[in-house]
Amino acid sequence: MNEIKKTIAIKRICCIGAGYVGGPTMAVIADKCPDIKIDVVDINEKKVEKWNSSDFQLLPVYEPGLEEILKRCRGRNLTFSNEIENKISKADMIFISVNTPTKHSGIGKGKASDLKWVEECARKVAQFAEGYTIVVEKSTLPVRTAEVIKSILERTEYPKSSNSKIFDVLSNPEFLSEGSAINDLENPDRVLIGGDNSYAVESLISIYKRWVPEEKILRTNIWSSELAKLTSNAFLAQRISSINSISALCEATGADIREVSRAIGSDKRIGSEFLNSGPGFGGSCFKKDILNLVYLSEHFGLPEVADFWESVVRLNKWHQHRISRLITKKLFGTLSDKKIGILGFAFKANTNDTRESSAIQICKDLIEEGAILSIHDPKVSEEQIFNDLNPMNKNAKNHKISRWKLVDNIKDTFYQADAVVIITEWEDYKEIEWGETVNLMRSPSWVFDTRSIVDKNKLKNLKLNFWQIGNGAIKTENNFL
Ligand code: NAD
Ligand code: UGA
Repeated sequence: MNEIKKTIAIKRICCIGAGYVGGPTMAVIADKCPDIKIDVVDINEKKVEKWNSSDFQLLPVYEPGLEEILKRCRGRNLTFSNEIENKISKADMIFISVNTPTKHSGIGKGKASDLKWVEECARKVAQFAEGYTIVVEKSTLPVRTAEVIKSILERTEYPKSSNSKIFDVLSNPEFLSEGSAINDLENPDRVLIGGDNSYAVESLISIYKRWVPEEKILRTNIWSSELAKLTSNAFLAQRISSINSISALCEATGADIREVSRAIGSDKRIGSEFLNSGPGFGGSCFKKDILNLVYLSEHFGLPEVADFWESVVRLNKWHQHRISRLITKKLFGTLSDKKIGILGFAFKANTNDTRESSAIQICKDLIEEGAILSIHDPKVSEEQIFNDLNPMNKNAKNHKISRWKLVDNIKDTFYQADAVVIITEWEDYKEIEWGETVNLMRSPSWVFDTRSIVDKNKLKNLKLNFWQIGNGAIKTENNFL
C-alpha cells in the first residue's frame, strides 16, 4: 500500500451501514464536527426511509438523546441515503459499519464471522473511491481482517481513468453499549485506533480530538486493535456468566447474589460494574464475538483457549434454560394452557433491540411447555417478536395467535395470569403497584424477577409467591411472603 506523506483534513465522511452503530456514531461525529459532511449509506431502503422520517418514533434505532442530535444535524451535515456509490466517490474517509454475524454454513459454521458484507463494502470502495481514501473498520472483525480488506482494495481492477487511487486501512472498533450509545460516544472510556500509517492515524485522531481528551485516544498496531475489541466483549460477557453461575449457587445455599456482588465488587481489582445477575446476556455481539474468538483460537491451534471462552457461552445458554425450567417446576411441573405474563422482550432496557435477547429462549421454552404468553415491551414491535419466536415456522400465524400476544398495557400481562416473569429491567416495571396488579392474577400466583428490580418489602401481605434471581434468602415455595 502506498504511503501518503501528509495528514489530510477530512472534509467528507461516508459511513457504510446505518445500523445500531453506524447511525448513532455518525450522528455524534456530525454533531461534534459541523464542518465535516457525513453521508450514511445503507442497502436497506426501508431503514434509510426511517432514518429520514420526520416522525422520530419511526427511527430504526431507539437511543436516548439521539433524536435531539438528529434534529440539529440531519439535513445540515448529516444525510442518510441509499446512494452508496456516489457517496463513496466523494469521501476522504470511509467507515465500514456493516453487520458481521456468525456464519451459518461452510467452514467455521456456527463460530466464525461471516465477512461477506464487509467484503462487499471493500469491493465497492475499491471501485468507486477516488484519490486518497482512508478506510476505517468500525465493524467488529476477526483479527487480520484488515489484511483481507487491503488485498481487495489493492487487487480490484479499477477503470483506467482512476489509477490514482490510494488507500490506507485503520481499525477503530466501537465500544458503545445500546441504550447508552450517545453518552458512550460523547464520553468514551477510550477511543482505540490501530494502524501502521501514522498520517492516516493522525487524520482520524484529528476528528476524535475535538471532544475526546487526548489521553483517552489509544494508538496500537492494527491487529491489537482488532483483537482488543473481541477480547473486551469476551471479558464483559465472562463477568456476566461468572456472576450468573454464582446466582444459582446462591439460590441453593441461602446466599443473596446482590450481597455477594457488592462484596466482591468493593475490591478495586474486581470493580463493581457488570456484576448484576440477570436472565443471561443477550445482544447482537457478546455471543458472536466470543464464538469468533473461539474459532480464531481453534484456527491457531489453541484448543484449551477455545474451550475456556466457549464455556462462557455454554453457561449463558444453560442459565437461560435454568430459568424456564425453574418456572415450570414452581408451577407444579406443567405449564399446559397456563397464562404467563412476560415483562420485557428487549435484551436490556432502553433499546428496541431483541437480538439474542434471553426473552427469546425463555419464551420459546415456556411455549414449548404449553404456556400461553402475554408479552409487554415498551419499545419492541409485534413484528419483531413474531420474527424472533417463529423464525422458520410456515404456520406461524396460527401458532402465534394461540400461544402468545403482545399487549400494550403492563396490567394486561397480569390479567388471569398464573405467573409474571420480568425479563427486561425497564423503569416502568420498577414502578408497578403490586397491590393492584396481583389481584388480577389467578391464584396461586407467582412473580419471577430475573432482574432483581422488585423491592420484596412491597410484596408483604400480598397473596403472591415470589422468586428473585440469586436470592437464596427468599423461601416462598407454596408460602406467601
Ligand atoms: P446492524 O445490523 O444494526 O446494521 C448493519 C447495517 O449494515 C444494516 O442496516 C445493513 O443493511 C447494512 N449493510 C450490510 N451490508 C451492506 C452493504 N454492502 N452496503 C451498505 N449497507 C450494508 O448492525 P450493528 O449493530 O450496527 O453492528 C455493526 C457492526 O458493529 C458489527 O460488526 C457489530 O459487531 C459491531 N458493533 C455493534 C455494537 C452494537 O451495540 N450493536 C456495538 C459495537 C460494535
Ligand atoms: C456490549 C458492550 O458492553 C459494549 O462495550 C460493546 O460495544 C457492545 O456489546 C458490542 O460490541 O456490541 P451491549 O450489548 O449493547 O454492549 O449491552 P451491555 O450493556 O453490554 O449488555 C449486554 C447484555 O448483558 C445484556 O443482555 C445485559 O442485560 C446483560 N448484563 C449486563 C447483565 O446481565 N448484567 C450486567 O451486569 C450487565
